[in-house]
Amino acid sequence: MIGGVPISQLAQQYGTPLYVYDEQYLRDMLGTYQREFRSAEFETGVLYASKAFSCKAIIRLIEEYGFCLDVVSDGELVTAMQAGYDCKNIFFHGNNKTMNELNLAKQAGVGTIVVDNRMEAELIRTVYADAAEPVHTLLRVNPGIEAHTHQYIVTAHVDSKFGISFLNEEELIETIRILQSGNNVIFDGIHAHIGSQIFDGQAFAEEIRKLFAFAAHLKEDYDITIHTIDIGGGFAVRYTDADSPIPIGEVCRMILNTASEENRKLNGQIKRLLIEPGRSIVAEAGYTIYTVGGIKKTPNKTYLFVDGGMSDNIRPALYQAEYDAFLAGKENEPAETEYTVAGKCCESGDILIQKIRLPKAEPGDLLVMKTTGAYGYSMASHYNKLLLPAVVFAKAGTSRTVIRRETYEHMLSLEE
Ligand code: LLP
Repeated sequence: MIGGVPISQLAQQYGTPLYVYDEQYLRDMLGTYQREFRSAEFETGVLYASKAFSCKAIIRLIEEYGFCLDVVSDGELVTAMQAGYDCKNIFFHGNNKTMNELNLAKQAGVGTIVVDNRMEAELIRTVYADAAEPVHTLLRVNPGIEAHTHQYIVTAHVDSKFGISFLNEEELIETIRILQSGNNVIFDGIHAHIGSQIFDGQAFAEEIRKLFAFAAHLKEDYDITIHTIDIGGGFAVRYTDADSPIPIGEVCRMILNTASEENRKLNGQIKRLLIEPGRSIVAEAGYTIYTVGGIKKTPNKTYLFVDGGMSDNIRPALYQAEYDAFLAGKENEPAETEYTVAGKCCESGDILIQKIRLPKAEPGDLLVMKTTGAYGYSMASHYNKLLLPAVVFAKAGTSRTVIRRETYEHMLSLEE
C-alpha cells in the first residue's frame, strides 16, 4: 500500500510508470520542519526548494503550512502563480536570471530576489527603479565549503558558478553597495548553499560559523549591517539502508543552536534565519511504480526490464545514485535472485539499479522504487519520446491525480 491504497489498484487505475506520493508523509515532513525550525531568538523561515518537485499540488501544500518558496526560473515562478501562491513569500534564485524573468518577478510581486553577482545587482537596480513596490534582496555568497554526501571540504570549490566567493571581497562589497543604492531595492542579508544530500552536520555548522563571521566582518570593516542569514538546503535522506541521515528535528536544533552561539558574538544582530530544504521534504514520500516486462539472462547478469527508466529517473545514470525497490505483493517471498533493473531507453547507461536481490520476478509484476520523490519528475525528459508519467497523491485510502499522464497529443502539441 501507499497512502493506504493498494499498489496494484494504483497501477490499474493510473497505469505505469507512475509516481505516487504518500501525502500524509509529505504533511508529516512539513509538520516536522514547522515544529522544529522555531526559535525564541530568531524569526525563522522554511523555504521549500521547488526544483526538487514543482507542481501546483505541492505548492498548495507548502502554502497550507505557511512555508516560503524558492524558485529558480520563470517556469517555477509561473507554476507557483498558477497555484495561487502568495508571491510575496517567493525567493527567486538562480545564477543567470534573464531580463524576462526579472520583469515577471517584478510584475508578480515576488518578495525577495537572491542576487548571484554584480552584473545581476545592476540589472535589478535598473529593473526595479520604477517599481510600484520595493523588492527585498539577499546576496548569494560562496563561503568555500563544498559538502558531498559523507564529507565536506573547507576552502574547496571557490570557483563554483554560484554566488560570490569570500575570496573576492571587493566584488562582494561593491555588489552590496549597488543593492543598497537601488531605488526600491532593500538589502537584507546573505545566502549560501553548500551542496545536496549532505549527511555531515559539521558541514552546516562550519557554514553557519563562516556566514556569521562574515556578517561581523561586514559590520566592523564596512559598517554594513545585515539581519538575515539563509543557509540553504541540502539535508540528506535515506535512499538505501546504507544511508543514515540525521533526523530533521536534530538538524534543525543543531542549526539553531550553532546560529545562536554565533549570534551572541554579534550581540544578536541577526534577526532572521532561513533554510531551504527541497529533497528532504519530498524524496521519501515518493515512489515510482513500474511494470516488469522482459527478464533476460546474460553471461553474468539477470536483467529485469521495466516500462520506464532514465527518462523518469535520471539520477542513477547521472550521479550513480542508488535506490531500493521491492516487488509489490512479493514482500514475504525470499529475495533469492540478484537482478539488474534496467529501463527501456536506448542507452546502455539506462540502469536504474545495478544490483538488487529480489524474489523471483515475472513479467507483469509491479516493481516499486522507493525515495523517488525528489529530482525525479522534475528532471524527467522526453528521451526516446517516452511520455511523462502521471503523478498521484495517495492518502487515507484514496488517491487523486495531481499531474496527468502525458498523451501523444500533448507531446506533439508544439510541433508544426
Ligand atoms: N537552495 C539552493 C540554492 C539550491 O541550489 C538547492 C539545490 C536547494 C536549496 C535544495 O537542496 P536540497 O535540500 O534539495 O538538497 N539534481 C540533484 C540535486 C541538485 C540540487 C541543486 N540545488 C540531485 O538529483 O541530486
